[in-house]
Amino acid sequence: MACTQIIGTGSYAPSRVITNQELEQRVETSDAWIRERTGIQERRQAAPDEATSDMAVQAARRALDMAGVAPEELDLIVVGTITADMPMPSCAAFVQAKLGARRAFAFDVGAACAGSLYAMSVADQFVRSGQVRRALVIGAELLTRVVDWEDRNTSVLFGDGAGAMVLSPSPTPEDGRGILSTHLHSDGTLAELLTIPGGGSRTPMTEEAVRAKLNTLKMNGREVFRVAVRSLVEATQEALAAHGLTPGQVDHVIAHQANARILEAALERLEIPRDKCWLNLHKYGNTSSASLPMTLDEAHRAGRLKRGDVIAMMAIGAGMTWGSAVVRW
Ligand code: ACO
Repeated sequence: MACTQIIGTGSYAPSRVITNQELEQRVETSDAWIRERTGIQERRQAAPDEATSDMAVQAARRALDMAGVAPEELDLIVVGTITADMPMPSCAAFVQAKLGARRAFAFDVGAACAGSLYAMSVADQFVRSGQVRRALVIGAELLTRVVDWEDRNTSVLFGDGAGAMVLSPSPTPEDGRGILSTHLHSDGTLAELLTIPGGGSRTPMTEEAVRAKLNTLKMNGREVFRVAVRSLVEATQEALAAHGLTPGQVDHVIAHQANARILEAALERLEIPRDKCWLNLHKYGNTSSASLPMTLDEAHRAGRLKRGDVIAMMAIGAGMTWGSAVVRW
């Protein structure tokens, strides 16, 4: 089977910045508390006329430009998102139309903050099997529209953005470069830890549901923290073991940016030095599925990723869903 390579990356963050100081005006919190507990200093907010697919397309165009792939060459578009433009059709359908990627089949993957890792894994299977030659993987999220701005437990954490990657079969499989493997896990018994309870079939979006703010994000932060550290560590150990790699052989960690303390705790247990993990959550907060491809793109464009480097990817989100991947760049 062919090995899949990441041949282009792109990202997009809206220009409007919400600082911790601005949040101090909205809820009882402080810049010091937010920095210390999360590492976040500011986050971005989409413009009122911007939807998730608009951000996704911006990130996608950058990834396609880098890859030298035209939209008409795409066979597949997978978007990881929990904040699609509308419940139906998929965000991917709008992305396909805006890009003019006429030949591609397009769909969304709902795995919350692990969404882009899940999407990458799905696309990887299609490329490996030979069914798809050019795949566009996107993580895009407009979380500032599903946050309760009066809830200090959640409103300080999240931001908007999009990241993208273009996947293609490796032209030189013998060099061993590409996505070596992905490892996905879920535990639906933990679903209640992180939800947007309203707007689905269980609780349709009535006026009463909106008054009760059931259209906004609810979270048991402490428990999510605990599960996140354990799961990220286990998944990353599993991925490294699959290739006989030791933590010392990891050159970079590209992780979902939920909370700096979650990542620090996971890295410590993995015995991977902190400076191998690219952090940008101080600028963007938690952008859910967007964060992993945004982080990959930043590290790539900063010239940090060298040919042959070993990248460990890890992500976790609502569901709970989590996973890891090993990529030889
Ligand atoms: N400002 C000031 N005080 C706050 C704030 C805030 N923004 N938010 C909560 N507090 C208060 C709490 O009310 C609590 O007060 P109390 O003791 O009087 O009840 C106190 O701070 C401590 O609360 P804890 O929940 O124990 O604080 P903790 O150190 O666990 O930090 C946090 C909270 C940051 C939410 C942490 O639990 C966390 O990051 N959890 C992971 C959540 C996460 O990353 N979710 C993202 C989505 S899922 C994902 O991406 C993996």
